[in-house]
Amino acid sequence: MERPGRDQHVEESAVLPDVLDGVCEGAPPALALDGPLPSGPQRAPPMANADSPRSSSGTKVLLLENVHSSAHELFEENGFEVESLTGALPDDVLCEKVRDVQVLGIRSKTQVTARVLAAADRLLTLGCFCIGTNQVDLQAARLRGVPVFNAPFSNTRSVAELVISEVIALARQLGDRSREVHEGRWRKVSAGCYEVRGKTLGIVGYGHIGSQVGVLAEAMGMRVVFYDVATKLPMGNNRACATLAELLSLSEFVTLHVPATPQTHRMIGPEEIARMKKGSYLLNLSRGTVVQIPALAAALKSGRLGGAAIDVYPEEPETNSDGFTSELRGMPNTLLTPHIGGSTVEAQAAIGREVATSLVKFIDGGATVGSVNFPGVEPAVLPGAHRVLNVHRNVPGVLRDINRIVSDMDVNILGQVLATDADIGYLIMDIERDVSDAVAAAMAALSTNLRTRVLY
Ligand code: NAI
Repeated sequence: MERPGRDQHVEESAVLPDVLDGVCEGAPPALALDGPLPSGPQRAPPMANADSPRSSSGTKVLLLENVHSSAHELFEENGFEVESLTGALPDDVLCEKVRDVQVLGIRSKTQVTARVLAAADRLLTLGCFCIGTNQVDLQAARLRGVPVFNAPFSNTRSVAELVISEVIALARQLGDRSREVHEGRWRKVSAGCYEVRGKTLGIVGYGHIGSQVGVLAEAMGMRVVFYDVATKLPMGNNRACATLAELLSLSEFVTLHVPATPQTHRMIGPEEIARMKKGSYLLNLSRGTVVQIPALAAALKSGRLGGAAIDVYPEEPETNSDGFTSELRGMPNTLLTPHIGGSTVEAQAAIGREVATSLVKFIDGGATVGSVNFPGVEPAVLPGAHRVLNVHRNVPGVLRDINRIVSDMDVNILGQVLATDADIGYLIMDIERDVSDAVAAAMAALSTNLRTRVLY
């Protein structure tokens, strides 16, 4: 394929990565970033059939920190070249290692700083095979046109099942009985032990996990009420409460499934506990900052609450070898677990598949739905179309400039999707004739260009 403009830009093309199989011109980015951006358009490896976006062949993937084999398998099935390492890499080694990869997969220990991103100038996308993304400089990635994906929902079911088991365990004081027997004490008691059938479970935050808990709880014969700041469709016979106060006053069990936000910070304190039924139970498997631990400890000690199950804490040990201290240790009928709500074999495998699928869909078709730092789009494949992806600074007139490029070439646009946020615009353009390289070269030369990639 002819590459317009290639001759005029020999020097620039020499410093661009091998994967940039397209033209290499482009104005330097106007944004102040740590290192060089790949300013020309990038081209995915050639495809046999432009109707079907199978462009991943030969794309290099580096997986760190023992990412589950389900991801490895999915990448290989799709023709990617995968290298898997068991551990995280220190900054300097990582900078060296990422130079020639197009897809990087990490878990929570690898720090992807602006410096690492600057070194990874062939990087097209980044996958966090976990829930959190704090370990990545998301803004730096965004301004380099690198969408970041994670797996927020792969462990939903694991958390929901643990909640259900703990509801029963609290009702039967299972933690205390088990400890006593381990200690050689035989306390066969029924006082203070209950069935859960017919009791009311109050779910605060009726999102992915909360609504699953509602379905499972109802199957055990519980009444389910929920409170959410957003309007939610109730599952089964679950019923919405108008206020948190209403939910607290109705429930024998209160389970928290909200995100960490300024509104949920210390959301459950002395006042809220005072509104709960005497002898009721509190479960928190959401975020550690949601519950005021001293207030909870006092309520457990005094018998105001009948028990609690806590999986998340305001401060958590960094590693398994660090010790754990909390006012909750030794409290009656209190189940304390080390943030294991989502830690199951099934969840790890699902995370591997979920994140790898997002990365493959981005490489092959440009889809960014589910990305944590990019506007989300997922346009359908148009038969016969040629697709160009462009990330640009979101300033007035960009689309006009881009459309002018296409119309000056007398090319029909078959489909165009633009999604923007405050800083960037992400454009997927499907054009009629196979002039993707020329169109991309002209787009990459615009001063607003952050990254342009020819898909097919
Ligand atoms: P989600 O985003 O699907 O649902 C959260 C719900 O909370 C949404 O419906 C939202 O509207 C609602 N909400 C937000 N602010 C609220 C407020 N002030 N009052 C009432 N409702 C509010 O999240 P998902 O996936 O269900 O996760 C819930 C929590 O569980 C998150 O904090 C997550 O980090 C945590 N989590 C914990 C795990 C563990 O290992 N213990 C594993 C996975 C998730």
